Amino acid sequence: MRILFLGDVVGRSGRDALTAQLPELKSRLRADLVVVNGENASHGFGLAPEMARAFFTAGADVVSLGNHSWDRKEIIPWIDQEPRVIRPANYPPGTPGKGSFVAVLGDGRKALVVNVLGRLFMEPVDDPFRAVQAEVQAHPLGKSVQAAIIDVHAEASSEKAAMGHSFDGLVSLVVGTHTHTPTADHQILAGGTAYMTDAGMCGDYDSVIGMQKGAASLRFWRKVPTEKLAPAEGDATLCGIFVVTDDTTGLATGVAPLRLGGRLSQAMPTI
Ligand SMILES: [Fe+2]
Ligand SMILES: [Fe+2]
Repeated sequence: MRILFLGDVVGRSGRDALTAQLPELKSRLRADLVVVNGENASHGFGLAPEMARAFFTAGADVVSLGNHSWDRKEIIPWIDQEPRVIRPANYPPGTPGKGSFVAVLGDGRKALVVNVLGRLFMEPVDDPFRAVQAEVQAHPLGKSVQAAIIDVHAEASSEKAAMGHSFDGLVSLVVGTHTHTPTADHQILAGGTAYMTDAGMCGDYDSVIGMQKGAASLRFWRKVPTEKLAPAEGDATLCGIFVVTDDTTGLATGVAPLRLGGRLSQAMPTI
């Protein structure tokens, strides 16, 4: 299976780049499955239902979230009607929506997508490791699903690496989101799982992790309320990871980073 995962879409800049470029990108990469993290799509905070619809129209198959899941309140009553939008699986029982989705491709192949929140340097939440374990046990790789993708929305690289090694050989891809900064450690782990500590964002990199650099920098200089943060509005770089998997085992046979447009050095997968 050919899987494209794109990191946190930030604001209008990220949304416009994604909807404009994803259709061509998906066909150029011959991607079977596209997963997009959408937690910052709405002015940096949350995801509105119409934005998720635009991502699906552009070619996304699943949209994951994170610590900003509920910043746009409209999504709370809506998420139970749209199973392709997933929120962290380790939110407490009774939380609206689901933490995973099994996408069924046109040819019948199935892919499990799971979203979890980390706990280091983040708001308290249930155990993400046991949450992923429960999802993986319910949808065994190479049996009930041909691929499994874990989006670990977390601050600490250590926690994301631990997640990768914990599920190495049991899922196709463990990829981090949330820091908005792409890492260069994309690899296939010893057991066959593709891994990248952070996919980076789909947003303007002339910024402080997607937000306008003046106000966002001032926050670190003085402890008084400053103007409200707003997303940077320059050209976005689409950032993510591309993985090719074996449909029999569900494990990765190739992995490559993607950085397209905007200011970052460009990287187009050739696998
Ligand atoms: Fe984010
Ligand atoms: Fe986040």
